[in-house]
Amino acid sequence: MPKIGLRINGVQVITEVRGRDRLIDLLRGMGFMSVKEGCSAGDCGSCNVLVNGELVNSCLMLAVQARGCEILTLEGIGTEEKPHRLQLAFVDFAASQCGYCIPGIIVTAKYLLDRNPNPTEEEIRRILTANICRCGGYTRIVEAVKKAAGAI
Ligand code: FES
Ligand code: FES
Repeated sequence: MPKIGLRINGVQVITEVRGRDRLIDLLRGMGFMSVKEGCSAGDCGSCNVLVNGELVNSCLMLAVQARGCEILTLEGIGTEEKPHRLQLAFVDFAASQCGYCIPGIIVTAKYLLDRNPNPTEEEIRRILTANICRCGGYTRIVEAVKKAAGAI
């Protein structure tokens, strides 16, 4: 099997990949279980990660394509000991129900805030159209992102 080198959450790793492995397979296989598989077709955003700062459905990217890339998953955004302000806001607003969609949503929200620290509610809602919450908790999710952005 070919080996690739990449950085995951700031840590350089070298790993073997099979040709048809997707990035989600690689990440979950390495223990990054925040990366969730929902639709497997690029429609739900549950598997979202940042690749070189760009928002990517990891179910649609081959692992070998990540060679030399910088990957960020929820685990690299914040930890229980040192949570990101998005994570704190999601707790404050009880924005997680079953929680399955939330890692991908926080990755999407971080992508937005990295580019636009003061998004409007419309901009938040527009980018979150890339993420499906099957529990339907969108109101609290949007409020949490607004709080993390300092809008409320
Ligand atoms: S599992 Fe990748 S977008 Fe749904
Ligand atoms: S909180 Fe359950 S799918 Fe979003």
